[in-house]
Amino acid sequence: MHYMNSNLFTDYNIHFAGQEQECQAFFTYKRIVLIADARTNGFCVPLAKTVLPVLQNSSLIVVPTGEENKTLETTQLIWQEMQRLQVNKNCIVVIVGGGVLLDMAGFAASTYMRGIPFCNIPTTVLAMVDASVGGKTGINFLGTKNNIGAFTHPEFTYINPFFLQSLPQQHIGNGVAECIKHALLSSAKEWENCKRQIDFEYFISNQNIKNSISTKLSFVQQDPTDKGIRQALNFGHTFGHAIEAASFQTNKPLLHGEAILIGMQIELWLSHKKYNLSKEITDSFEALVKRLYPSLQSNCKTESILHFMQLDKKNDSAIRCTILKNIGEPLIQQSLTLSESIEALTQCPYLI
Ligand SMILES: NC(=O)c1ccc[n+]([C@@H]2O[C@H](COP(=O)([O-])OP(=O)(O)OC[C@H]3O[C@@H](n4cnc5c(N)ncnc54)[C@H](O)[C@@H]3O)[C@@H](O)[C@H]2O)c1
Repeated sequence: MHYMNSNLFTDYNIHFAGQEQECQAFFTYKRIVLIADARTNGFCVPLAKTVLPVLQNSSLIVVPTGEENKTLETTQLIWQEMQRLQVNKNCIVVIVGGGVLLDMAGFAASTYMRGIPFCNIPTTVLAMVDASVGGKTGINFLGTKNNIGAFTHPEFTYINPFFLQSLPQQHIGNGVAECIKHALLSSAKEWENCKRQIDFEYFISNQNIKNSISTKLSFVQQDPTDKGIRQALNFGHTFGHAIEAASFQTNKPLLHGEAILIGMQIELWLSHKKYNLSKEITDSFEALVKRLYPSLQSNCKTESILHFMQLDKKNDSAIRCTILKNIGEPLIQQSLTLSESIEALTQCPYLI
């Protein structure tokens, strides 16, 4: 199903380490405003200014770090600073950060003056392979994640794994979970590469990051506004989101990526049981997770997970999830009965 199309990078203006000249071209005659969070301002902005010297002559907006600050209040701070700095359509906003900042500052830029140009410099694995591409921007609102937002593409995205040197290991693992998902949705060749890995090194290589983005973009291109096949990218998320939410009510809250790995184990198990996905694939996934995430476990209760699954906006009357018929062959919106969901949760080795 997935085919490697390197033109996708050109279509979406995605540039990699070594293509700095191409990025510099976007700054001609433009005033530059950098937006960073408190951590990426220290760790990543100096590096960004080294690889893209044009950024040395820029204004700076710094916002607080973390998902809890992905709010309307912080967005308002960004708008206020933009107004104070007299930002207008002749400026370009350069966002240097993880998925939280890219989502929020991208939203701020795409609504300020009905949209001013912005570009993304992602600094986490998750932001590189997922949040920086695909055009979704937004913030959390009244307790609901990504409830307010817009589809807007950046002028360009610049990806350089060098930024990952300062990223804590747990955030590396968090983003690698999405790389594993992309490999399952991609091709037999990519899954073969992925399943053999013994640590995170391969996943943060330029080559894997390119492959992973290419998989995401192949779905985005077919369905830019997420009404159909793009939902394949939700693989692992029907159970994963609910497990993440339920884990916040325990003494061991999970990272998003950890919850999605558990969700993928469950949805692969269902894929095997209901749709004959080869057992070799479910076994090799579990072996990979055991090597890369040896302490992955949650004490969420089945009832609590089911409660959050029923609240999930993707589930109407039935529980629906993406199933894999084979590597690279997702089936979206497959209905599950309550008893199938309970059985799937009960077999999961990571839920104790
Ligand atoms: N728009 C999309 O399509 C999309 C897709 C997936 C996820 N997301 C969003 O992404 C967010 C999660 O993103 P994330 O996992 O990158 O988390 P994050 O942005 O919170 O970054 C994690 C932490 O690492 C710090 N950090 C970032 N880069 C660093 C670096 N190079 N060195 C040291 N510290 C660094 C950040 O300041 C933060 O404290 C969620 O809000 C999610 O909704 C969006």
